[in-house]
Amino acid sequence: LVKASASAEQFAPSNIALCKYWGKRDAELNLPINASLSVSLDYLGTHTRLIPIEGQVDEVWLNGQQLQPGARFSRKVSAFIDLFRRDQTLCFKVETRNNIPTAAGLASSASGFAALTLALNDALALDLPPEALSILARMGSGSACRSLFEGFVEWRMGQREDGLDSHGIPLDASWPGFCIGLVEVDAAEKAVDSRSGMQRTVETAHLYQSWPLQAAADMSKLQQAIQERDFSLLGQTAEQNALSMHATMIASWPPLLYWQPDSVAAMQKVWQLRAQGLELYFTMDAGPNLKLLFQRQDRDVVLQHFPNLETVEPFGSE
Ligand code: PMV
Repeated sequence: LVKASASAEQFAPSNIALCKYWGKRDAELNLPINASLSVSLDYLGTHTRLIPIEGQVDEVWLNGQQLQPGARFSRKVSAFIDLFRRDQTLCFKVETRNNIPTAAGLASSASGFAALTLALNDALALDLPPEALSILARMGSGSACRSLFEGFVEWRMGQREDGLDSHGIPLDASWPGFCIGLVEVDAAEKAVDSRSGMQRTVETAHLYQSWPLQAAADMSKLQQAIQERDFSLLGQTAEQNALSMHATMIASWPPLLYWQPDSVAAMQKVWQLRAQGLELYFTMDAGPNLKLLFQRQDRDVVLQHFPNLETVEPFGSE
């Protein structure tokens, strides 16, 4: 129940899944068909400020620009705030800023809903524990439940129909020198969002039947790789997982291909460098951009081949 409302400001990091969330068993509650595992991007993410205002509608600002109340993003934000308010006269000015370079073409919905959840928790003095906040963030965007935490995060799919056991859990593991590089192929908004993409894949791709098995096997391999700091196992598993997810998308009808010619060129470059002995892997989400996975000692070589690469070291350097 809403007790008080005050201004609040919070940050949440973006995250990159090494085992992807693809497919919902409950579309309203954003309950996944498979467990997933991600790494949070440290300082890259979303800052969200909430200021209580008089009025009947929320005011939503994105990167310094006020959006129309009818805009897709504004409606999503207001619908999410509705989960927290009973009293419809309680409205907010929502200022959300992504520091993810727009050029990196990285989805910001995960960090956005995580930061909004944290800010609402403060503004309404709810004092909720992290798991409850993760569950709430999940309702805004599934992958947001992982952005509540730093480092490696597992999203346990849970068994319950009400979703109360489906949330992020931080892994007790660190990996200094672990690097992520963001390769921009196209920063434009994607034509098919992840919600519709997942639905189409689940409903039309026979190939999707094998996806939960792939994901379950990859979850174990990733946990082992993280525990043993086995970079090859981590890279191979993450890359194969991403390509398997894309295979299910391509096998949908109408076909869903997020790649562009430059995405394929970048993949081939990674494969070529790997054939020459470089420990370099990639992962991709529902878009044309690649996220490279490599280690600190190879950073200079990777940068020679991928100039303008935005790099992040989620656990700092060695
Ligand atoms: O959280 P959503 O609905 O934006 O879906 C995210 C889907 C992927 O980015 C493709 C995979 C993932 O686990 O982040």
